[in-house]
Amino acid sequence: MRAIVIYATCEGQTEQIAQRIAKGMTAGGVPTDTFDVTRHDITELAVESYEAVVLGSSLHYAQHDPRIAWCIRQHRDLLADIPAAFFSVSLGIVSKRFKDRAEARRLADEFLQEENFTPSRRACFAGALRYSRYGWLKKRLMHWIAEKSWRPTELNRDYEFTNWDNVDDFASEFAKFIHSCRREPTPQPRFAFTRKPQREYSVHANASP
Ligand SMILES: Cc1cc2nc3c(=O)[nH]c(=O)nc-3n(C[C@H](O)[C@H](O)[C@H](O)COP(=O)(O)O)c2cc1C
Repeated sequence: MRAIVIYATCEGQTEQIAQRIAKGMTAGGVPTDTFDVTRHDITELAVESYEAVVLGSSLHYAQHDPRIAWCIRQHRDLLADIPAAFFSVSLGIVSKRFKDRAEARRLADEFLQEENFTPSRRACFAGALRYSRYGWLKKRLMHWIAEKSWRPTELNRDYEFTNWDNVDDFASEFAKFIHSCRREPTPQPRFAFTRKPQREYSVHANASP
């Protein structure tokens, strides 16, 4: 049994979070791979070969990455059957203004609703302000937004807001959930050619037949 964290990142913070989740899930007994849709072609990934999936995207201009949306649409039936989770990475979630935090949550919820995806677990994580990686215009724009939200505003350094304890908790809790979804093995017919391939893990594992 293997799981995968599929993620989209622009300046690398979602990647760090994805790697940390994969490490935490692996430590929790669920060997987990990672896949970056911004660097690799998602159509080449055999998502159906995994028993559990985590999808993650950062927010840019109030949007989650369309490649993650595409992946959800392509694998909707599979994602409804296996343990699946979603996380959103943003700065709105650490704003001192209540309305910004509510907006970050609303955008994550709306994204899932639009894609008709109800993950077993979801989370909104705080991202990073990486002035060193922005071009001139983006730097000024982010600086202006940071000032509005009372975030640090020194342009000559980067700021990380991710709470790694929250990320670790998410990973270990999801790994436990995956274990709880383990199906009881059903008796298989004697002859190989009459056997149906069966997933070991399903969110419907404990549902009555
Ligand atoms: C151009 C740009 C637009 C952004 N737009 C939003 C936004 O609309 N809402 C928000 O909460 N955060 C926004 N952010 C903050 C990012 O979500 C945050 O920096 C995150 O850590 C980026 O993750 P990544 O490095 O994985 O792309 C924006 C950041 C940039 C650089």
